[in-house]
Amino acid sequence: MSASSANGGIPLDGVTAVVTGASRGIGEAVARSLSTAGARVALVARGREPLERLAAALGASACAVPCDLRDAGAVNAAVQAIIAKLGGPPRILVNDAGIFRVGPLHELATEDFEAMVSVNLVAPFRFIHAFLPAMLAGKAGHIVTIGSVADRSAWPGNSGYAASKYGARAVHEVLRAETKGTGVRATLVSPNATDTALWDDVAPDSRTNLPNRADMLRPEDVARAVLFAVTQPETVNVDELRISRA
Ligand SMILES: NC(=O)c1ccc[n+]([C@@H]2O[C@H](COP(=O)([O-])OP(=O)(O)OC[C@H]3O[C@@H](n4cnc5c(N)ncnc54)[C@H](OP(=O)(O)O)[C@@H]3O)[C@@H](O)[C@H]2O)c1
Repeated sequence: MSASSANGGIPLDGVTAVVTGASRGIGEAVARSLSTAGARVALVARGREPLERLAAALGASACAVPCDLRDAGAVNAAVQAIIAKLGGPPRILVNDAGIFRVGPLHELATEDFEAMVSVNLVAPFRFIHAFLPAMLAGKAGHIVTIGSVADRSAWPGNSGYAASKYGARAVHEVLRAETKGTGVRATLVSPNATDTALWDDVAPDSRTNLPNRADMLRPEDVARAVLFAVTQPETVNVDELRISRA
C-alpha cells in the first residue's frame, strides 16, 4: 500500500511532480514522500550531485534537473528539461527552494535582500507561470507553496525573508482566487522552525531568542503536510496549513 493510500488519501501512482529545493532539507523530504506515494518526481536545485544521488535512491521514476533559480535563462531551460523528462508539464508543482539571510534592516546587504526575493518569490512565480497554462487546459494540477511562519509574522532581522515570504503567500492567495473552480488546486504550507541546513549560518543553539534545533520540526513533518494536501479528493482544496511544534 502506498504512503498516501495508507494515509486515507488518493494514491499518486504515475502522477508527475516537480519539487524545487529537492537537494536537501524539506524539499528532499517532500520528494521522498511523493515518490513513495507513487509519483514520478523531477528534482530541482543547484547541487547536481545531491540531486543525482537522490534520484538514484528514488529509482527510475525520479530525475535530476540542476538549476540556479536566480538565473531566468536557467529556469527556462529547467522548465523545458522537466517537460522532456516527465513527458509533459507536471501535475504537481512544489515550490520549496528558499534561502534565509538575516540582519538588521540597515545592515542587511541589498544583494542579500535581492537574493531572497529572487529565490523565494520570483523563481516560484516563474515556475507557476510556466506550468499553470497546461494545468488550466487540463483542468487538473496542484501548486504547493512552501511559505513560513514568517509569511504572517515580522521579526527583527527578517526584512528580506519576510518580504519574500509575505509575497509568496500573496501570490498563493491570488493563485487560489484565480484557479478556484478550474480543477487546479493551490496550497500554502507554512512551517515554523524546522531543523535543516537553512539554520547553519544562524547557529540557533547559541542564541537565546531562537529555538534549539532539537526542538524544531523535522523536514518529514512538513512533507507529511504536503502529502496530505496533494492526496485529497479532487473536490477538496487545502488552502493553507500552518505547522508548529506541539
Ligand atoms: N527550515 C526552516 O526553519 C523553515 C521554516 C519555514 C519555512 N522554510 C522554508 O522551507 C523551504 C526549504 O528550506 P529548508 O529549510 O529545507 O532549507 P535548506 O535545507 O537550506 O534547503 C534549501 C533548498 O533550496 C535550494 N536552493 C537554494 N538556493 C537555490 C538556488 N539559487 N537555486 C536553486 N535551488 C536553490 C537548495 O539547494 P542548492 O543549495 O543545491 O541549490 C536546497 O535544496 C524554504 O522555502 C524555506 O524558506 C524553512
